[in-house]
Amino acid sequence: MNNAPIGVFDSGLGGLTAVKELRRVLPNENIVYFGDTGRVPYGTRSNSTIRKYAAQDTKFLLKHNVKMIIAACGTVSSVASNLKRDLPVPYTGVVSPTCFAAAKATENKIIGVIGTTATINSHSYRDMLNTFDSGLTVIEQDCPLFVPLVENGFIDKNDPVTRLVIERYLDKIIEAGADTVILGCTHYPIISEAIREVVGRDVRLIDSGRETAIYAAKILKEKGLLNDSKETGSSEFFVSDTPEGFESVAGVFLGENVSHTVEQINIELY
Ligand code: DGL
Repeated sequence: MNNAPIGVFDSGLGGLTAVKELRRVLPNENIVYFGDTGRVPYGTRSNSTIRKYAAQDTKFLLKHNVKMIIAACGTVSSVASNLKRDLPVPYTGVVSPTCFAAAKATENKIIGVIGTTATINSHSYRDMLNTFDSGLTVIEQDCPLFVPLVENGFIDKNDPVTRLVIERYLDKIIEAGADTVILGCTHYPIISEAIREVVGRDVRLIDSGRETAIYAAKILKEKGLLNDSKETGSSEFFVSDTPEGFESVAGVFLGENVSHTVEQINIELY
């Protein structure tokens, strides 16, 4: 048993979709969340910059004595594959748990993957899917406008701008007949209803934040690191830009009203 917090980070607030699920599956765990809101998006940056940012983000979380680190960010998980080896605590990114769920879900063996440009260029999801099943056809598409749309609140499923962008990006995947689509960036579940309107009811959408939270719970259990408190766990939030408006935006990601305190930190010091 270990009652230290779980550390979760993302380039922004998308990783809160993983926190939402983590709180559902492990309600008594304490969570420390860092959202690098001052440097979002990561997905359009070079691999060396993304690795540098990921090293700083994890260093910050380790200062909070976390017992596990979750990179709730498709971009970091795809590019900073060194983290698993380098960190002194158990670690998971989103790629492997998400691919496992998608490979299990597909029936026609055609899977679409959408993510940031850095994620798609790394082919991380395609390569991981092929390790689970080499017979899969994988269609990859980067969607660089999705993160700005989400961060700026264009999340209504009936918003014509959002719909048009989704139609443009998902075109190839729909045409290929994918029955399963991986939302390879943790921001995307926020527009999953709008995506569903475009791809249709029968297509399975795999939420990377959700699958990763479920997998993290499994790791903690296997390693005997679960929190044995009977109380509901606490969540602490840190960001690298002004925390103004955090509550309302975080509420959308977490799917509930939040009245948490949030602290701004200088991530360049780590
Ligand atoms: N949530 C991040 C991801 O999963 C957003 C990417 C970005 O910052 O560009 O990739």
